[in-house]
Amino acid sequence: MIERYELTPDYSISRLINGVWQLATDHRRQAVDRQSVVRDLSRLVEAGLTTFDCADIYLGVEELLGDLLRAYRTSGGGLSDIQIHTKFVPDRSTLGEITRQKVEAGIDRSLGRLGVERLDLVQFHWWDYDVARFVEVAGWLAELKQAGKIRLLGTTNFDTPRMHELVEAGFDLVAHQPQYSLLDRRAEGGLVDLCREQGIGLLCYGALAGGFLSARYLGRNEPKAPLANRSLTKYKLIIDEFGGWELFQDLLASLDEVAQRHDVSPSNVAVRWVLERPQVAAVILGTPTATHLTENLRVFEFSLDEEDGSRLEGTLSRALGPAGEPFGLERVADGPHASILKTELNRTG
Ligand SMILES: NC(=O)c1ccc[n+]([C@@H]2O[C@H](COP(=O)([O-])OP(=O)(O)OC[C@H]3O[C@@H](n4cnc5c(N)ncnc54)[C@H](OP(=O)(O)O)[C@@H]3O)[C@@H](O)[C@H]2O)c1
Repeated sequence: MIERYELTPDYSISRLINGVWQLATDHRRQAVDRQSVVRDLSRLVEAGLTTFDCADIYLGVEELLGDLLRAYRTSGGGLSDIQIHTKFVPDRSTLGEITRQKVEAGIDRSLGRLGVERLDLVQFHWWDYDVARFVEVAGWLAELKQAGKIRLLGTTNFDTPRMHELVEAGFDLVAHQPQYSLLDRRAEGGLVDLCREQGIGLLCYGALAGGFLSARYLGRNEPKAPLANRSLTKYKLIIDEFGGWELFQDLLASLDEVAQRHDVSPSNVAVRWVLERPQVAAVILGTPTATHLTENLRVFEFSLDEEDGSRLEGTLSRALGPAGEPFGLERVADGPHASILKTELNRTG
């Protein structure tokens, strides 16, 4: 049975969320056939994975999900059967001058692309804490929620002190989206506790490290740049912080051992581990197609026990990093993590 989570008493999501960054024009190498994408995404919905994660900066993706909603409506489905979470990610260079009108124009653009009158969940991202305006901008999003254009508000990639600021300012946040995986436990430094105190559900990305946390990489030599896509480039840097390829291979071997005990795949174990962490509402998996659907549904068929926990902990205890606050390394100017980020995508969107 597909596990679900109530972000509010009248809003529930599937605990596996279909992440569709992988469909963005700057993520994939080949053009996609829109109709076959809609067919694939419909299969996910029919299987019970009814929740999607996109963003205003995932180029072309809100439009594709708009196609999905139209197709679903045409076939007699109700709009509330599908939950679409988007993000509001103003370009870094505009943070100093952003106005209420520009925020509203951004939200209106997402509404138009999706073809809906109200956005289910808007997750707010802020590139640069030195431009100290994120509380002011969050206030404008809260006004748009009040006006009925947004149903629920959340955040992504904020660190613990800035989440505190938002909470202190009185915003009603129901969800926060951090990177959280066996390879990246920075959220455990304080963010998880804060979200637990405040009843904010964690929607976690990176659980498979772009596919690295799968049988495909077990026993493989360290891949060299350039890697096949942006996710792999991003998460290879996390593997380097974790302790390097050899330690990563030890982690994969531990995952494989646990997977065999439960007759599931190493990816299933990696996802289940995140799902069982405190305050985790859901895991967002990059699912550009329905290829991994049957495999992924198996995460709802088993639980990890004490023996599994100790086997994994044996490897995790040797991890060197990544250290610091969530998305902290990614904010270090000129650092390797920041150098691969695209911070001006709304201009082209
Ligand atoms: N807020 C943020 O800053 C942020 C950042 C990154 C991502 N996200 C969100 O999180 C989603 C997930 O992205 P991610 O980069 O973290 O990727 P991910 O979910 O860690 O990895 C997805 C990739 O793993 C491979 N894979 C291998 N086994 C799989 C399995 N059993 N099930 C599914 N995929 C499997 C697939 O590649 P193949 O297709 O080649 O098999 C797939 O493209 C994105 O779509 C986006 O919605 C948010």
